[in-house]
Amino acid sequence: MNDSWEKLRADCESCTACELCKTRTNCVFGTGNIDADVLFVGEAPGDNEDKTGIPFVGRAGKLLDQFLFAVDIPRESVYIANILKCRPPQNRDPLPAEEDACIEFLRRQVKLIRPKVIVCLGRISAMRLIKPDFKITKEHGVWFEKGNFLITAVYHPALLLRDPRRKEEMLEDMKKIKQKIDTIKKQ
Ligand code: URA
Repeated sequence: MNDSWEKLRADCESCTACELCKTRTNCVFGTGNIDADVLFVGEAPGDNEDKTGIPFVGRAGKLLDQFLFAVDIPRESVYIANILKCRPPQNRDPLPAEEDACIEFLRRQVKLIRPKVIVCLGRISAMRLIKPDFKITKEHGVWFEKGNFLITAVYHPALLLRDPRRKEEMLEDMKKIKQKIDTIKKQ
């Protein structure tokens, strides 16, 4: 298929493949640098994202911004998207059928961006993109090789809001991600 950003966005915004289309205000397609070396993938939009159409703009997003700033990764240099493009009611976990219906949009985004590194934000994204039995407490910060890219997972910023003691581990993981990007750039 000869894909384009325009076609992909239009397909996403008109999607009715699952029930979430009935309750969405906006389809949260993704934002950032379409030539990014790094793609961050969260779980699903929350209330603020549904209202604005932009991923990670609520409290969890602000915390993600702080970690990006701390390790000197400009937010505008990366691309940020989610597994689901529409908000699940009451922010419940995505259903497997919703992920199945939506994942092709992310695949098409990956094909267009061709990132060198993918960072899963949280367990749900890691279970979908790395392996179904991914254990976030044990395996965050571990690198996996998949096709043409390296993939890792970090704690979801919303989890860090609930459990701030894990912020130190998050900072270490983010530093490793920054180092990896810098090494890849030099090659
Ligand atoms: N949580 C996510 O996983 N994605 C968002 O865009 C916002 C919060």
